[in-house]
Amino acid sequence: LDNGLARTPTMGWLHWERFMCNTACDTDPHNCISEKLYMEMADMMVKDGWKDAGYEYVCIDDCWPSMDRDPKGRLQADPKRFPGGIKKLADYVHSKGLKLGIYADVGTKTCAGYPGSLGHYETDAETFAEWGVDLLKFDGCYMPKWTLLAEGYMNMSIALNKTGRSIVYSCEWPLYEWPFHQPNYTAIQQTCNHWRNFADVFDSWTSVKAILDWTAAHQSLIAAVAGPGGWNDPDMLVIGNFGLSRDQQETQMAMWAIMAAPLLMSNDLRDIDPQSRQLLQNRHLIAINQDPLGKQGNRTAKGNGFEVWERPLSEGRLALAVTNRNEIGGPSSFPLTIALLTNWYCCNPQCNATQVTPKYRELGVQNPFTPLHIMVNPTGTAVLVITPIKGQQYTPQQVKKWV
Ligand code: DGJ
Repeated sequence: LDNGLARTPTMGWLHWERFMCNTACDTDPHNCISEKLYMEMADMMVKDGWKDAGYEYVCIDDCWPSMDRDPKGRLQADPKRFPGGIKKLADYVHSKGLKLGIYADVGTKTCAGYPGSLGHYETDAETFAEWGVDLLKFDGCYMPKWTLLAEGYMNMSIALNKTGRSIVYSCEWPLYEWPFHQPNYTAIQQTCNHWRNFADVFDSWTSVKAILDWTAAHQSLIAAVAGPGGWNDPDMLVIGNFGLSRDQQETQMAMWAIMAAPLLMSNDLRDIDPQSRQLLQNRHLIAINQDPLGKQGNRTAKGNGFEVWERPLSEGRLALAVTNRNEIGGPSSFPLTIALLTNWYCCNPQCNATQVTPKYRELGVQNPFTPLHIMVNPTGTAVLVITPIKGQQYTPQQVKKWV
């Protein structure tokens, strides 16, 4: 969506995967969906380096509203859990130099059964703008007919634009169309700043793998439309929770960087281990994710249980992810020769290779034909950045002949 926003993938925090629809503030005040939760996350974002690393949006998901609209037909926050109301919360988040995201649904109800926005798009957009909201996640449950999804998502986009406030528009439109037909990604890209394509992320390796496999299987369709202002959203980062091993967390962070995905963490910033924090704040991976060229990476090779993904970066550089998808054995080495890559010309005639994760190390000057041996743990990922060195170039024929 060409509204001047999300020129690089959105970075922030979103409550859903970690806190879900926990409304039990009487018995679980520390974790329930309440203004306190977002205020505490905002505090942590400033205090623990998240904001400095680039994370900016503190986002509310489902289960925030009261079951009834107010007498004027406006959504209102649950008065018990949000005694100050959303405007006050937005003011608080803004006072920390951060932005506030909210959640609504294109249909008659949200997925968890709270009031939906169907028939109220303009009112709701205006309400969010008046409150000072900076991002809207628009879910797709309870649409009377799937054929109405397109109109609904487009009308909300228009309504948000009409408010005159800068509000990032995060859609779930394609996710809800896939069961019926292949979504129109041109229309989606013109309407939304990012869009969910595939099932909700869970705190498990099975879930992260499924998202990666779905993305690779549909990359020719979806990666082509991604770019500044519009991104494919493979869902939240679950790093720092319970289900992913160290290496699997490395893989999620690396691959979300390669996929130019919004980096929306769903974890507890008040209680996160230092390793997960360091990984989520890794400046090399964040720089790849936020690269101004805005090109989404693709899987370009597969073999021996390994996968290679390539993401072209600005200044002719290339980010490379090598994932070891084997779930047996120990660390193994993947022989990588740049001439075999789709984007081999980033090393023509020479390049500098740097491995940025899991450990930073300079690999030195390479040519397209030098084999690089990259060791990767099972279910882990190594990320390399290739920087071109200018010189007398090989022709594609010379390189192909070698291959
Ligand atoms: C379905 C979405 O895909 C999730 O991310 C989350 O927003 C839930 N709905 C909330 O009910």
